Amino acid sequence: MQTLHTRRVAGPQQVAAGRSRRAAVVVRAASRFADVAQAPPDPILGVSEAFKRCTDPKKLNLGVGAYRDENLKPMVLDVVRKAEAKIFAANKDHEYLPIEGLDTFRKATIDLLLGAGHPAIKDDRVAVIQSLSGTGSLRVGAAFIARFLPKGTTVYISNPTWGNHRNIFADENVEWKYYRYFDADTVGLDFKGMVEDLKAAPAGSVVLLHGCAHNPTGVDPTADQWAAIADLCKERNLLPFFDVAYQGFATGDLDKDAFAPRLFVDKGLEVMVAQSYSKNLGLYGERVGAMSIVTSDKDAATRCLSQLKRLARPLYSNPPTHGARIAAEIVNDQELFTEWKAEMMGMAGRIARVRGELQAALEAKYPSKDWSFVTRQIGMFSFTGLTPAQVDNMTNKHAIYMTRDGRISLAGLNSAKVDYLAEAMIDSVRNH
Ligand SMILES: Cc1ncc(COP(=O)(O)O)c(C=O)c1O
Repeated sequence: MQTLHTRRVAGPQQVAAGRSRRAAVVVRAASRFADVAQAPPDPILGVSEAFKRCTDPKKLNLGVGAYRDENLKPMVLDVVRKAEAKIFAANKDHEYLPIEGLDTFRKATIDLLLGAGHPAIKDDRVAVIQSLSGTGSLRVGAAFIARFLPKGTTVYISNPTWGNHRNIFADENVEWKYYRYFDADTVGLDFKGMVEDLKAAPAGSVVLLHGCAHNPTGVDPTADQWAAIADLCKERNLLPFFDVAYQGFATGDLDKDAFAPRLFVDKGLEVMVAQSYSKNLGLYGERVGAMSIVTSDKDAATRCLSQLKRLARPLYSNPPTHGARIAAEIVNDQELFTEWKAEMMGMAGRIARVRGELQAALEAKYPSKDWSFVTRQIGMFSFTGLTPAQVDNMTNKHAIYMTRDGRISLAGLNSAKVDYLAEAMIDSVRNH
């Protein structure tokens, strides 16, 4: 096949060999894209690609934060199947959604976040736009910050944080800085460092907070610490931006996991919130999420929504339908909602169980080391403290795939593999 930059010419030998053997040599002109440098693989999704290429039968993928059942297979929730059956039976069309998304989903998502009947909802003080899962919602939020907050507004993100946060803000030309979060010595929250850094942030800065189940550390502030952070945001006029990617995954309870954003709103703070339904509904590929701004008055919410729509229109025009219909069916139907909560408890429970098993195996095999952090951490991940060299040993010697920051996804572990993982961790800690 000939392409723009490919020509076929007959070589002298082929000509000599006669017409019947008129083979061709391909000569390529230099590509106009020759100077495009190779991008590095994504630190998280690149791990899954390397895992797929690995032929070792013992291989284990603890890289990506996607839930797996006890057989380590992707799982579709029963409620999702039921909601889909209802949607198919209703024979719905495939028309465009409005820019702001599916109304029934927008109602459902804000009910889940704040609790149905919350005063902010009753007063119409929330601008909600359905967007492309957590990532797309954060990106629309970043675009909003770039356009509507004063020039030079900085977003403070935790150190460490989910690998994509920096890119999301940097690609919108929003300046970001770290605030201290993780204390490697206690394998817990560096609350003092966090407060010092937020106190030093210029008034008007944005503070990105993980709603629950902090990724990658699995370390969340306590209720009192959340209250102090909210008060600090108020005092220093900081704008909290919650990333809620794991509602229901930390404790198995949707309400408990919404504690922090609800507290901030109840303390009278205006907040931005990005929500994702990838994990709690297992709708990873359907890209279901929302970007909301809880404001202090209805007019501001109306204007913010108009601008969120203005930002979304040239980005992706309008969001996808199918996943939003599923989420709306489930949240707005009492029976399905109850069933979802039970299934979510099942997922969170399985993760908590393998956490306990992993800690017990590590303690049995290496009792002189303190492994209690494994069960002190919450959510999908454990931040193991393994160094990059130790992670390389995990992967190269034991075919255990994980991100180089030492994070493992416990959702990718089952009881049968606990011992294998514990031995590999101990080998890495002892020998590297
Ligand atoms: C903290 C955090 N925020 C946002 C996301 C966004 O996920 P998605 O775009 O798949 O909804 C993730 C996914 O891993 C995450 O861990």
